[in-house]
Amino acid sequence: MIHLSFDAGQSARFVSPDEVALFNREISLHRNNIYEKKGKGNDFLGWVTLPEEISGQLLKQLQDDAQSIRSQSEVVVVIGIGGSYLGARAVIEALSGAMPFKNAGQSPDPEILYAGHHLDEDYHYALLKYLENKDYSLIVISKSGTTTEPAIAFRLLRKHLEEKYGVPEAAGRIYAITDASRGALKQLADEQKYKSYVIPDDVGGRYSVLTPVGLLPIAVAGYNIETLMAGAVAMAEHLQKEDKLQQNPAAKYAVLRNILYNKGKHIEILATYNPSLLFMIEWWKQLFGESEGKEGKGIFPAGVGFTTDLHSLGQYIQEGRRSIFETVISVGNTRHSLTIPEDSQDLDGLNYIAGKRLSYVNEMASRGTMMAHLEGEVPNLEIRLPAINETTLGELIYFFEMSCALSGYILDVNPFDQPGVEAYKRNMFQLLGKPGA
Ligand code: PA5
Repeated sequence: MIHLSFDAGQSARFVSPDEVALFNREISLHRNNIYEKKGKGNDFLGWVTLPEEISGQLLKQLQDDAQSIRSQSEVVVVIGIGGSYLGARAVIEALSGAMPFKNAGQSPDPEILYAGHHLDEDYHYALLKYLENKDYSLIVISKSGTTTEPAIAFRLLRKHLEEKYGVPEAAGRIYAITDASRGALKQLADEQKYKSYVIPDDVGGRYSVLTPVGLLPIAVAGYNIETLMAGAVAMAEHLQKEDKLQQNPAAKYAVLRNILYNKGKHIEILATYNPSLLFMIEWWKQLFGESEGKEGKGIFPAGVGFTTDLHSLGQYIQEGRRSIFETVISVGNTRHSLTIPEDSQDLDGLNYIAGKRLSYVNEMASRGTMMAHLEGEVPNLEIRLPAINETTLGELIYFFEMSCALSGYILDVNPFDQPGVEAYKRNMFQLLGKPGA
């Protein structure tokens, strides 16, 4: 059984059932290519069976290591960029949204900080200063083992850690997640005897959150990785079983976004009314942007956090260029309850909603916005989660991964490569005078 549901009902005015039905044959072809590992980029289809194939032994090892890291660290710094960073942060922020304000020293969970996802000097300086008085560990993640941003951050942090604890103890506080045999990080991890985990060869960075890349940081943060994987397994089984386009939420989402794209809706905004999902949107932006944006094609994936952004981008969405469609992630139940108090003076005029839950007001804001956007020619798709927890996040991750692969195949691109990201690196290396660049 899955808990996530996908609803395209609001967009019936923009896409007819006949237009969807035209994709029946194509979807079955693409599904076949994915499950039989025959499609474009088929050497990177390892994510398809990852949830069901992950061994109990690996999960146990991750949990044990997470426990050791937790017991020796007030702070854990996760070093990585792109697919080696966003998935872990997306899940950790989504799950910690139930209790975002933790008093230092009072929580059993270490503080999770991130580095190596940009090159800002002040940020990394401030991080090193902050770590001076903290017990901390490092999780360094890079599939290639050669990416500049995390490599620089790791060099800075490793030096800091070694000066603080001495080389032997520092080595026990470093966990490396990288390729099985290649890359500078692999070599360093072997030489220094860091505890290491492998990113499977057939899983690309942005599809790697359900490998140790995401699972170790998530477990260190105190969340249940077995339940997360169980959610992904449930979704994987559901999507494999449902071979009818209309019954398969991932196929339906992929088809609808391509139909809308072909009708001139070149921008998709993924909207949430729950700030804890903002990093899930960042992960989604990378997944779809890097997978589809190539060969002069692709939907531009943008993200919005409502109601906050209704007071900024809301104007553009309502009345700007009509090239946008919107996908909303709706969440049924919050984890805590808060009602709006009655006020005897009622100067703010809010007594008409006194006694109502804040989540009810949020839901009415969401419904009102969807209606307004539909009136403004912004088609709406909706992904519904009954609540934010490990199970539903596991489902959501796999749902998006499968949708993205199908959508990329509909667009006729290889959703698993990213040749375009090399361009900036070439120029940067030349400007920096890298030998051989
Ligand atoms: O999806 C991808 O492949 C990329 O976003 C990578 O994850 C990102 O560039 C980081 O690469 P690496 O893990 O090799 O450091």
